Amino acid sequence: MSKVTVVGAGNVGATVGNVLAHKDIVNEVVLLDLKGDMARGKALDSWQQAPVDYYSTKLRGTDNYKDTKGSDVVVITAGIPRRPGMSRDDLIGTNAKIVTSVTKSILKYTKNPIIIVVSNPLDVMTYAAWKSSGLDSSRVFGMAGILDTARYRAFLATELGVSPKDLQAVLMGGHGDTMVPLPRYTTVAGIPVTEMIEKDKLKVIVERTKKGGGELVKLMGTSAWYAPGAAAAQMVESIIKDENRIFPCCVQLKGEYGLKNMFLGVPVQLGKKGITKTLELKLNKSEMKLLHKSADHVKDVMKVFNKMKLV
Ligand code: NAI
Ligand code: 2OP
Repeated sequence: MSKVTVVGAGNVGATVGNVLAHKDIVNEVVLLDLKGDMARGKALDSWQQAPVDYYSTKLRGTDNYKDTKGSDVVVITAGIPRRPGMSRDDLIGTNAKIVTSVTKSILKYTKNPIIIVVSNPLDVMTYAAWKSSGLDSSRVFGMAGILDTARYRAFLATELGVSPKDLQAVLMGGHGDTMVPLPRYTTVAGIPVTEMIEKDKLKVIVERTKKGGGELVKLMGTSAWYAPGAAAAQMVESIIKDENRIFPCCVQLKGEYGLKNMFLGVPVQLGKKGITKTLELKLNKSEMKLLHKSADHVKDVMKVFNKMKLV
């Protein structure tokens, strides 16, 4: 029996639940939201999709943490999304309180879950969840890198006129405008991307990727949910199936890349115990400089969180 709880049944949370149900890899998905009826409605709607799309995963909506008891994996999407003109960091005042209280409520009913944080500002909210959970850091990590890499790969696929399936890439750093897409680790069906595209065009795509979230906020008035929801569900899949896939995830660093005591996006392996390995790439000087610049930004937001004295 496997059970996944998604806290926050808004745009991203409901999508995580729906994508997971389609994968048909867990017995039950619980959608928990302050707005209980909305969560119940979305769970029921997804369950009524099951006969059409052929899956057996049961979905339940709730506002009661008792229903989350015995979850293998918990995905936290609760919190406010940004509106036009806001940065992800502007959300900290509201979301830090939500993420810490959600984490504590989950732990009341499940002793040792794996927690995937999605709420923004992502790197610091992951740190907040880990701090308030008391769990080993191999069991608390954040989703951003799969999404940011997917944006980078999608932009490249459009530019090159190839299938997004053939794009492989690594992107590191914080989930913000300082993120670090890495062209040196980007391939098109095994061919280095630098052999397929001119430098200037690649530079434009790297810059567009960094602001990829903001581009969607401008278009829709709120932040994205299809790609974010699918990205979080892909992490759950690697855990539930113990696939040990390699993804960029926001994890606690313990000296890797010369950084520690913080959460930041780096490539890791994900299996049924959570983070099974943190990969340390041989970054060159300029890549390392960009990574550290991104880390400095995350550290500044961490200071704001620490001043709130929530944990
Ligand atoms: P949304 O507003 O559609 O949904 C958020 C839900 O959280 C709402 O239904 C709300 O009722 C619920 N909620 C608020 N406080 C709660 C609490 N204490 N307990 C339970 N539920 C609570 O927002 P959306 O678009 O789903 O985004 C959710 C979060 O995810 C935002 O912080 C957003 O910035 C972040 N995000 C992060 C991404 C990433 O790559 N890490 C990508 C996309 C969004
Ligand atoms: C995104 O990148 C806002 O973090 C959210 O779409």
